Amino acid sequence: MRTFEDFLQELELLDTFQQLGRMPDEKVPSAIVVVPKVAGHEERAGNNRPPLQAAKTAAVTSITIDPARAARIATMDWAELKAETAACTACGLCKQRKQAVFGVGAAPAPWLFVGEGPGAEEDEQGEPFVGQAGRLLDAVLAAAGLQRGREVYIANVVKCRPPGNRTPTLEEAAACAPLLDRQIELIQPKLIVALGKTAVIRLTGSDASMAAMRGSVHRYRDVPVVATYHPAYLLRSLTEKLKAWEDMMFARREMAKRGASGLENG
Ligand code: URA
Ligand code: SF4
Repeated sequence: MRTFEDFLQELELLDTFQQLGRMPDEKVPSAIVVVPKVAGHEERAGNNRPPLQAAKTAAVTSITIDPARAARIATMDWAELKAETAACTACGLCKQRKQAVFGVGAAPAPWLFVGEGPGAEEDEQGEPFVGQAGRLLDAVLAAAGLQRGREVYIANVVKCRPPGNRTPTLEEAAACAPLLDRQIELIQPKLIVALGKTAVIRLTGSDASMAAMRGSVHRYRDVPVVATYHPAYLLRSLTEKLKAWEDMMFARREMAKRGASGLENG
C-alpha cells in the first residue's frame, strides 16, 4: 500500500506539509488543516464546468426511454456492448464526439470508479481520465493501493464528450444509462466509487450534497457505492485532496469488510 507521503507527493502537496514542518497523521489528515468551507463548492463537478443546477433544469420531464433499446442492451455481452457504444446515437452528445469512450480495465473487476464524462483529451484518445483530472485520479487510486489497468475498472456516466466540458444533462445521463447499467452488470464490482455529483446522482438517485454523501455506504442495485469528489474538483484545494484521501481509506475499509480481493497488500 502507498503511504500518505506518496499520496501527498503525487498530489503535489508534499512541499506544503514539509513547509508546515510536520506531516499529517495518516488516519485523520483533515485534523491538521482547518479551512472554512466555501459555499457553492459542492455544486461543481469538474473544472470549468457550470453548476449542476444549470443542467438539472433541462432535465427529467423530457427523458424519453426506449424500452426496446434498453432490453436489447441488457442482454449484450462485453464485445456487443462495446460495439453498441461506439455506434450509439441515442443522445445529442454523439454529434460532436470524436469517439465514444467506453472505459478502461478488465471485466470483471472488484473496484469500479465512475466519473462524469469524457473531456477533450479523453475524446481524442478514447480512454477515460487521461487528462489533468486523470493524473489526480491515478493519485487517488494510488491512495487506495490501486492502479489503473489492474483491479480497477474506470468508466463514466456518459460515454461521449459534452461540448465545452459542460455537465451532462439528466437526459443525456438517462440515454446512456442502459449502457452503463449493462457495463456494471458485466464488471460485477464489489464496490463502486462515484466520482462527483453526476455519478452520485446517476448511481444512487440522490442529489444530496457531496458533504452529506461522503463517509457512508450507498447502493446501486446490490452494489455498495462510496461517494467522493470529482478529481478535477480536487485540483482546487488542499482540504478537498485530504478529504479524498479520507474517502479512499473509507472505501478500502469497506472493501476489506466485504472480504473482497483487489487490495494491493490484502
Ligand atoms: N472527467 C471525467 O469525469 N471523466 C473523464 O473521463 C475525464 C474527466
Ligand atoms: Fe449514446 Fe451515451 Fe454517447 Fe449519448 S453519450 S450518444 S447515449 S453513448
